[in-house]
Amino acid sequence: MKILITGSNGLLGQKLVKLLANKDGIELLATSKGGNRISNQSGYSYKSLDITNQLEVEAIFDEFIPDTVINTAAMTNVDACESDKELCWDLNVNAVKYQIKAAEKHQSHYIHLSTDFIFDGENGPYKESDTPNPLSYYGETKYEAEKLVQKAKTKWSIARTIIVYGMVEDMSRSNIVLWAKEALEKGNPLTIVDDQFRSPTLAEDLAMGCWLIAEKQATGIYHISGKDVMSIIELVNRVADFYGLDKSIISPIKSSSLNQAAKRPPRTGFILDKAYSDLEYSPCSFEEGLAILDKQLKA
Ligand SMILES: NC(=O)c1ccc[n+]([C@@H]2O[C@H](COP(=O)([O-])OP(=O)(O)OC[C@H]3O[C@@H](n4cnc5c(N)ncnc54)[C@H](OP(=O)(O)O)[C@@H]3O)[C@@H](O)[C@H]2O)c1
Repeated sequence: MKILITGSNGLLGQKLVKLLANKDGIELLATSKGGNRISNQSGYSYKSLDITNQLEVEAIFDEFIPDTVINTAAMTNVDACESDKELCWDLNVNAVKYQIKAAEKHQSHYIHLSTDFIFDGENGPYKESDTPNPLSYYGETKYEAEKLVQKAKTKWSIARTIIVYGMVEDMSRSNIVLWAKEALEKGNPLTIVDDQFRSPTLAEDLAMGCWLIAEKQATGIYHISGKDVMSIIELVNRVADFYGLDKSIISPIKSSSLNQAAKRPPRTGFILDKAYSDLEYSPCSFEEGLAILDKQLKA
């Protein structure tokens, strides 16, 4: 199977490269904007690809002729999407359009990453067939891309996920667990929202979910997240418990008092039954995920 990954320098992208490089029966082409930021460069090829450049997208597809494409690249900073809508649309919608066209030409299986932010968070946890109603521009663009993917004239899948945590090399942005650990270690007072609920997802679990979709050639929409739903303040408390750090510095705050540019859905979380039964997806618990991450941090 010839697999093309976009955004391979990102959190999910790097975990996918780690999972699929040197795997029997797989020829892997990792692509991202700029140079390769993964130091281990064996067992796969790397090419620079800016997915907003249609000619570059077409050239890579024509040359590699992928059986499967996993599109992890996106504009993922939710607040930045509100302030730079043009770039957000270009990366999260137009770039998907270019890839779908190229995937249709070569009849590649197109696997696209999406988000819980396509939902309004009034009725979580959500199943795949629930009706989207995005609250933010990021959510709108990801939903728009989903609609394009669903109309593709080639095999397609959508893997939706929720706050992904983990550690990779030379990260362009942090994630909630790394942030919480660092902030707790500093010991300064922390105010954390208690009215947003999510299922944090270990990056390795998400990478495995994407691979299972590819391997089984499963099509349609899949919810791929962690299995525990918790408030953000509970998440930070559980990180403190795991590391034996002082929890008394954590106090609750409401989302409305934060003045963030993008509106967040209050309660998401996913029902994972479809992924369990079709894919045999088997995510770890939050504490098991923290233990895996901790080992990597110590190494
Ligand atoms: N992370 C989450 O909490 C979360 C939650 C729900 C859904 N998702 C979805 O899951 C997917 C993967 O997320 P992630 O956390 O792995 O994101 P990430 O760490 O931000 O990775 C995205 C990667 O795409 C690259 N990229 C940016 N612009 C590009 C372009 N024009 N062409 C090619 N590559 C480009 C980025 O490069 P640089 O590193 O150089 O910037 C980055 O390496 C995304 O589709 C996201 O929407 C993520």
